[in-house]
Amino acid sequence: MFAGVLLSALVLLAGVGRAEPASDFEPADFNVTSELLSLGVDVSAINTLVGLARRDGPGPCAAACTALSTVYGSNAVFTQNQTGYSDFTSAFWSSIQSEVAPQCIFKPSVTKDVSVLILLSRLSRCPFAFKSGGHAAFAGASSVQGGITVSFENFKNVTVSHDKTTVKIQPGNSWVDVYRALEPYEITVTGGRVARVGTGGLTLGVYAGGISYFSSIYGWACDNVISYEVVTASGRIVHATPIAFPRLFWALRGGGNNFGIVTSFTFEAIPFPQNAMWGGTKTYLESSFNGVVDAFAGVVANSPTDPNAGLWVAWIQQGPLKLAATELWYAKPNGSSAAIFANFMAMTPIADSTQNRNLSEYADAQQKTNPYGLREVYWCVTTKADARIARIARDIYYQERPAVAGLAGARPVLIFQGITEGHMRHMEKNGGNAVGLDYRNGPLYIIQIACWWNNAADDAAIYNFVQKVMERIKAEATTLGVQSDYVYMNYGSKFQNVIAGYGAANVDKLHQVAGEFDPKGVFQTLQPGHFKLDRAPSTPLGTVRR
Ligand SMILES: Cc1cc2nc3c(=O)[nH]c(=O)nc-3n(C[C@H](O)[C@H](O)[C@H](O)COP(=O)(O)OP(=O)(O)OC[C@H]3O[C@@H](n4cnc5c(N)ncnc54)[C@H](O)[C@@H]3O)c2cc1C
Ligand SMILES: *[C@@H]1O[C@H](CO)[C@@H](O)[C@H](O)[C@H]1NC(C)=O
Ligand SMILES: *[C@@H]1O[C@H](CO)[C@@H](O)[C@H](O)[C@H]1NC(C)=O
Ligand SMILES: *[C@@H]1O[C@H](CO)[C@@H](O)[C@H](O)[C@H]1NC(C)=O
Ligand SMILES: *[C@@H]1O[C@H](CO)[C@@H](O)[C@H](O)[C@H]1NC(C)=O
Ligand SMILES: *[C@@H]1O[C@H](CO)[C@@H](O)[C@H](O)[C@H]1NC(C)=O
Repeated sequence: MFAGVLLSALVLLAGVGRAEPASDFEPADFNVTSELLSLGVDVSAINTLVGLARRDGPGPCAAACTALSTVYGSNAVFTQNQTGYSDFTSAFWSSIQSEVAPQCIFKPSVTKDVSVLILLSRLSRCPFAFKSGGHAAFAGASSVQGGITVSFENFKNVTVSHDKTTVKIQPGNSWVDVYRALEPYEITVTGGRVARVGTGGLTLGVYAGGISYFSSIYGWACDNVISYEVVTASGRIVHATPIAFPRLFWALRGGGNNFGIVTSFTFEAIPFPQNAMWGGTKTYLESSFNGVVDAFAGVVANSPTDPNAGLWVAWIQQGPLKLAATELWYAKPNGSSAAIFANFMAMTPIADSTQNRNLSEYADAQQKTNPYGLREVYWCVTTKADARIARIARDIYYQERPAVAGLAGARPVLIFQGITEGHMRHMEKNGGNAVGLDYRNGPLYIIQIACWWNNAADDAAIYNFVQKVMERIKAEATTLGVQSDYVYMNYGSKFQNVIAGYGAANVDKLHQVAGEFDPKGVFQTLQPGHFKLDRAPSTPLGTVRR
C-alpha cells in the first residue's frame, strides 16, 4: 500500500517536467516501426531505411525520400532536377519560399499517406513542411530546406452536406476553388478574400484566425470550423470537435501548425442568396486623408449597427502621389447606399471600382493586385480601435518610407483593418479559441505592412524599415494606452513570436495540449517552419535605434 502511494508519487513527479509529459494519447513506449507496419509499411523490407543506422548509410532525408518512392511510386515523389520539383517550388506566392530546396516533394493521395509521412519522418529524423495555398511570405513556412515538403494538391474535395448547412473542405483547395464549388448551392463560408490563398494556412491561420468578407457577421474562419480531421504526431487520424478532443479543437483555433496536420475542415455554411455582394476600391488623394481615417474609424466603431459592411485601408505612394486605397465591401448588393459608408460616399475618389459582384469574381480581382514571384514580407501590430493611433501610424509610415523608396521594386504598403465587436464576439463560439482576445477589450485595429521588392541584397534594409515603422507605431500606441500584445498569425513576420502574445494562461494550456497529443515534440522539432509554441520562426532582428 505504502509502496503503491510512493510509486504513484514518483510517476506524478516524472510527469511534471516538459521533457517527458505523460500522455494517454501516445504512450511512452510508442513504437514507430510497428505503427508503420500496421499501416502497411514494412520498414525492414526497405533497404534505405535498414541502412539508416549504418554510419555509411544514406542521410536521413535521402533515406526517407527513397522510402516514400518505394511505397508510393515516382508519381508521388519528386527530387531536385525533375520538372515536377521545379513546377512545385516555383508555385509559391513569395519568391523567398521558392528559393528553399527540399530533398524531395511528396504528394499524398489520401489521409493515411499523411500518417505514413509523419511516421517516416520520425523514424528517419528527416524534417517536413506542408504547403496548402503557399501564401506564407517567409522562407521555411511551407517548405523545408533539405527535408520533405508535402503538397496537398491531391486534397481537393469540397463536400456539401445534404441539408446544405455544413461544408467539408480539404486543404488542397484555394478559396476561389471553394467559392466556385459552392455557388450552385447559394451558400458560402467565412474564407479568404483573395482567390489563390490556401484553405489550409488561412483557416489554421483557419489555425489562427482567417479574416473573411463576412467576419463581422460570423467571425473568423477558424471560429466557423466545427470539425477538423487531424493527423496527429503519432499518425493517428482523429476528428476534433467541441465534443470529441475538445482541447485539441481549442488549440487548433489559434495554435498554428503545432498540433497536427489538418486533412479537412468542416465549416458551418452561410446562406448567400444569388451569391450577390458588393465591393471594390475607392482611391482617395491626400486632401481626403484625415477624412479617410475618420471614416475608417467610424465603420469599425459602428459595425454592430450594420455588420454587412467591412473594409481595409491601404496607404500607398505612386511617385510623388500619396494615396489611400480603401477597399469597401458589403455582404449584400448595393453597399453604396448603406448608411454606415456615408462618410466614404461623401468624399470624392480619384478611382472607384466598387460594384455589385459575386464572391469568386471578387476574389479573383483581388489576386490581380497580389502578383506571384516577388520577395515578400508581412509584419503587423495590434492596437485598440482609436482614430488617433490610426492617424499617427499613417504619418509614421510616410515619414519612414523614403528609406526604401530607392530599392529595386520596393513597394511598401501600410494596411489598416478592424477586428470589430461582432467579429470578436464569435471568438467565444464552441468553447472559445486559443488567441486570448476578449470582445470587451475591443474593437481592435490590425496595422500591417506588406512589402514586396526584387533583390535579396535589399532584404536587411527592408526588414529594418518595416521593423522601425512597427516599433514606432507600437511605442505611440503604448503612450496613448491603446497597445495590444496580440499578433495576428496570418500577417506575422518571421521575427515575431506570435504565440507569446496570446497571454500566459493560453500559452501554458497550449503547451499542455501539445504534451498530450505530441509528447515527443514532433511538430516542434521535425516541422520547424512557421510559428512555434515557444519561438518566432527566425531570431529577432537587432533592436532598432532611433
Ligand atoms: C495575397 C494574400 C491575401 C491574403 N488574404 C487574407 C485574408 O483575406 N484573410 C486572412 O485572414 N489572411 C489573408 N492572408 C494571409 C494568409 O491567411 C496567410 O498567409 C496564410 O498562412 C496563407 O495560407 P496558405 O495555405 O496559402 O499558406 P501556406 O504557406 O501553404 O501555409 C501557411 C502555414 O500553414 C501550414 N499549413 C497549411 N495547411 C495546413 C494544414 N492543412 N495542416 C497543417 N498545417 C498547414 C503550412 O505548413 C504553413 O506553415 C493573405 C495573404 C496573402 C499573401
Ligand atoms: C518496435 O516494433 C518492431 C516491429 O514490430 C520490433 O521489431 C521492435 O523490436 C520494436 N521496438 C521496440 C523498442 O520495442
Ligand atoms: C541537379 O543539377 C545540378 C546541375 O546540373 C547538379 O549540380 C546537381 O547535383 C543535381 N542535383 C541532383 C539531386 O541530382
Ligand atoms: C475525395 O473524395 C472521393 C470521393 O468520395 C474519394 O474517393 C477521395 O479519396 C477523396 N480524396 C481525398 C484526398 O480524401
Ligand atoms: C439593389 O438596387 C437595385 C436598383 O436600385 C434594386 O433593383 C435591387 O432590388 C437592390 N437589391 C437589393 C438586394 O437591395
Ligand atoms: C460571377 O461573376 C462573373 C463575372 O461577372 C460571371 O462570369 C459568373 O458567371 C458569376 N458567377 C455566378 C455564380 O453568378
